[in-house]
Amino acid sequence: MADIDRARLLESVPTELFIGGKWAPARSRATFEVVDPASEEILVRVADASSEDGIAALDAAVDAAAGWAATPPWKRADLLRAAYDAILARREEIATLITLEMGKPLAESRGEVDYGATFFRWFSESASRMHLEGAYGTEPGGGYKIMTYKRPVGPTLLVTPWNFPLAMGTRKIGAALAAGCTVVIKPAEQTPLTMLLFAEVMREAGLPDGVLNVITTSDAAGVVAPIMADPRLRKISFTGSTQVGKLLLGQAAEGVLRSSMELGGNSPLLVFDDADIDAAVDGATMAKMRNGGESCVAANRIYVQSGVLEEFTRKLAERLGSFRTGHGLEEGVTLGPLIDGEQRAKVVRLVDDAVDKGATVVMGGEVPSGAGHFYPPTVLRDVPRDAAMHDEEIFGPVAAIYSFDTEREAIERANDTPYGLASYLFTRDLSRAVRVAEALDTGMTGINRGVVSNPAAPFGGIKESGLGREGSSEGIEEYLETKYIGMQL
Ligand code: SIN
Repeated sequence: MADIDRARLLESVPTELFIGGKWAPARSRATFEVVDPASEEILVRVADASSEDGIAALDAAVDAAAGWAATPPWKRADLLRAAYDAILARREEIATLITLEMGKPLAESRGEVDYGATFFRWFSESASRMHLEGAYGTEPGGGYKIMTYKRPVGPTLLVTPWNFPLAMGTRKIGAALAAGCTVVIKPAEQTPLTMLLFAEVMREAGLPDGVLNVITTSDAAGVVAPIMADPRLRKISFTGSTQVGKLLLGQAAEGVLRSSMELGGNSPLLVFDDADIDAAVDGATMAKMRNGGESCVAANRIYVQSGVLEEFTRKLAERLGSFRTGHGLEEGVTLGPLIDGEQRAKVVRLVDDAVDKGATVVMGGEVPSGAGHFYPPTVLRDVPRDAAMHDEEIFGPVAAIYSFDTEREAIERANDTPYGLASYLFTRDLSRAVRVAEALDTGMTGINRGVVSNPAAPFGGIKESGLGREGSSEGIEEYLETKYIGMQL
């Protein structure tokens, strides 16, 4: 078990709404349960915000907006850096909470804390620079002067998912705060605790009141829609399903809101005959099993060239067979449960459907009995094109293997999806690596590696996988707009 005392941690974690720098219950005093997906025990109850609470959070963000935008960039940068240090100082606490409410093994939760904190380091380093970006010059006809500069977009709503309860928040909050925007964040109903603890860390680090507001709710649609309809809101940034993203884009159209959407994926992973097979197995294991497969960049379709199909499948099954399933706080556990019963039912449906249509189960595929939403590491081969898992995100530890013969076929099949988030390819041929990477219709491609996420790299998709980029220098641009002044001197 982890060193942190679980009962003490749950007693000390904030469970109220964080609005205008203060903790307060929901106006209705309503609460909802947060459940450990490994044991199905109730961990605590947290405030269940209504639409009125949501608007109160927006009020606070609006009140703080001018002051935060006018705060000197170095001061903002220092605060972000202090928050980075403060997150790392409480690494064990935050990691334990992530494991308790989300289920991933503690080692992975620690990795998420490091990953999540680094967005604050990264954006603290950019906070003072982008304010110097702009132009000054004479218009081509010589008539007057053109001056441009960057300014914050304004109050922003952030809606984040349950799979990375810290990092998907800090990736947005770090960029928004560095740019000078104030925010209201609504974490996922399944995993509100990490963001509540994070808000307390930010408060202690000295963040001014109202710059960050956190609302937890079991009624996401009812709380988000009125905020989206409020003309004081200037931007929405969402990470989640394409279906909900499209709904939010419809709402954003009403107020012509700046929109960043990090939506669903259906990532292909290609293994060519000339690949280093052991490296490909390592990469595929990372791309499939990171976060238990509950990641939008998880390898959803694994295409293996026929000459190495047997060897790759055997080695991947051996590797996935070495995972140990259990409660994420137990020593030696490398695979936690899925987030909830609904998600497990989806994985079961997708596997059953693929098998009914002709896929072969190489390993796994049996739902264990007992408490917790566990699903074993599973490898399927000969998955047919008409299997539902070809078109839907599996979001679980299921490796779906397809085979191909030629490079052209691999590219066509990889691109045969409305999604375009990430892709991966394994080959020793440099020309092929670059040629195929360029031909894959995804926002991100990993060559001979199974993880592409990095705060310094632009994370995001094309097609129905989203709009905009997070992280890198582009991440901050999402929260800035260009102001142009024409000067007759
Ligand atoms: C996601 O699953 O939404 C993103 C994961 C990452 O940042 O790597």
